[in-house]
Amino acid sequence: MAPFDLLITGGTVVTHEGRFRADIGVTGEVIAAIGVPGSLGIAMEVFDASGLHILPGAIDVHVHYRDPGMAHKEDWDTGTAAAAMGGVTTVFEMPNTFPPTATPEALADKFRRASTARVDFGLYGLLAEDNIDQLEGLIAGGAAAFKCFMGNTTGNLPSPSTGAMLEGFEIIAKHGHRISLHAETASIMAWRQAKLMAAGKKAPLDHLAARPAIVAIEAVQRAASLAEWTGARVHVLHISSADELRPLREAQARGVDITGETCPCYLMLDTGDYARLGPVIKVNPPVREPHHKAELWAALNDGTIGLIATDHAPHTPEEKRNPDIWEAGAGFPGVETLMPLMLDAVAEGRLKLEQLVRISAYNPASAFGLLPHKGQIAIGSHADLAIIDLGAETVIDEAKLHSLRARVTPFHGKRVRGLPLHTLSRGQFVMKNRVLVESSRGRGRSVHTLQKMPTAKPRRVEQSLASLLGSQGSDGTTLAQQKA
Ligand code: NCD
Ligand code: ZN
Repeated sequence: MAPFDLLITGGTVVTHEGRFRADIGVTGEVIAAIGVPGSLGIAMEVFDASGLHILPGAIDVHVHYRDPGMAHKEDWDTGTAAAAMGGVTTVFEMPNTFPPTATPEALADKFRRASTARVDFGLYGLLAEDNIDQLEGLIAGGAAAFKCFMGNTTGNLPSPSTGAMLEGFEIIAKHGHRISLHAETASIMAWRQAKLMAAGKKAPLDHLAARPAIVAIEAVQRAASLAEWTGARVHVLHISSADELRPLREAQARGVDITGETCPCYLMLDTGDYARLGPVIKVNPPVREPHHKAELWAALNDGTIGLIATDHAPHTPEEKRNPDIWEAGAGFPGVETLMPLMLDAVAEGRLKLEQLVRISAYNPASAFGLLPHKGQIAIGSHADLAIIDLGAETVIDEAKLHSLRARVTPFHGKRVRGLPLHTLSRGQFVMKNRVLVESSRGRGRSVHTLQKMPTAKPRRVEQSLASLLGSQGSDGTTLAQQKA
């Protein structure tokens, strides 16, 4: 047998199902062998991982990298450097850039900008009121998933009407791409914010007052109904409240293909942190009252919320510290701090390490069509690995983050236990001994060519706009031909 390019010895491999001591042989970009320690023979390079845990690299399906249009906050180089430093080996990037990723041309432009990426990535296409006729082109152009802003947030993209959403879901359902939802109902928030502003309110907690959990309940319920009707596969982004778990669970029980994610800020911060953090805590949806946290943890452990993501949303220090809460930037960088924060939660006994692998790697890969290439440590899978020291104690220091222009995080100063020391992307180190590997710039590839979508099962196809208007189906046949 030819020697492996790389042999990682002495570590403990952790999957979503269990952990075991093993050596890993890497050939080219993939895992070629997994064997009991000492059994795998020779390699060009041997890397000693004794005492460390080897996890599949995290897959973060929710990052905002800002280029084009807001590259003063972040770009693909800095954003994916932060990912590499955080043990994140795949990111899905959001379309609320300027211009938004709403057309095949904008998507092609973003692919060019992403050519500096250090880890693999998927690009979201936008589903909006005015680009329904672009959705097929976005899919053909390599969109890995879609994003629908049901509520206003950074970029102020108008939320589509329910009518436009329904047609968009009908079109995307035929292809199986997942539609990720910013599930906050815009009209409720606009109404309340206008009244609060008219009353002169502009403190950090007024942002929460404008976005009570009913906005999420209403949006999740409505999106789930549209998904059920059309057969579209959907994903609820940044779940912030216990309340929206009910419509999520109900839809899952009815067999709707609906997944959900939450982010560290909703698990670890609450209204008690607003006074200390001021506008830095501003994020959409907002950090809520303390009781939500326990229910979100329970939902992560029972599988209702299947994914952890970051909503990595960088803003400049000036934007984050604006004392007028309506003007302050919403969100904060997270892709570099996700694993340290979640590993700390493992150290505290809030979830098992295997469950962290499930929500950070296996389930995202499963939901977004990346199995068997990503999300698992298995023969033939990409050697996307996060090598972890569970005992390392560090303090999160925003000055050291790799999101060079946007280093403001509410977790600054937090002491955490557990740290990725090394990250591999497709067999190559992109971070080694806590140092970014400079030559990783430009190695990242789009994952859309790997994606395997389940066979589409559009439901009310006979009532879809495409069939009623007699336009061609995506496979080139009309509905009449399909029925014949
Ligand atoms: C995100 C951003 O800044 O792009 N901000 C946020 O508060 N979450 C947008 C979003 O995901 O809503
Ligand atoms: Zn959002």
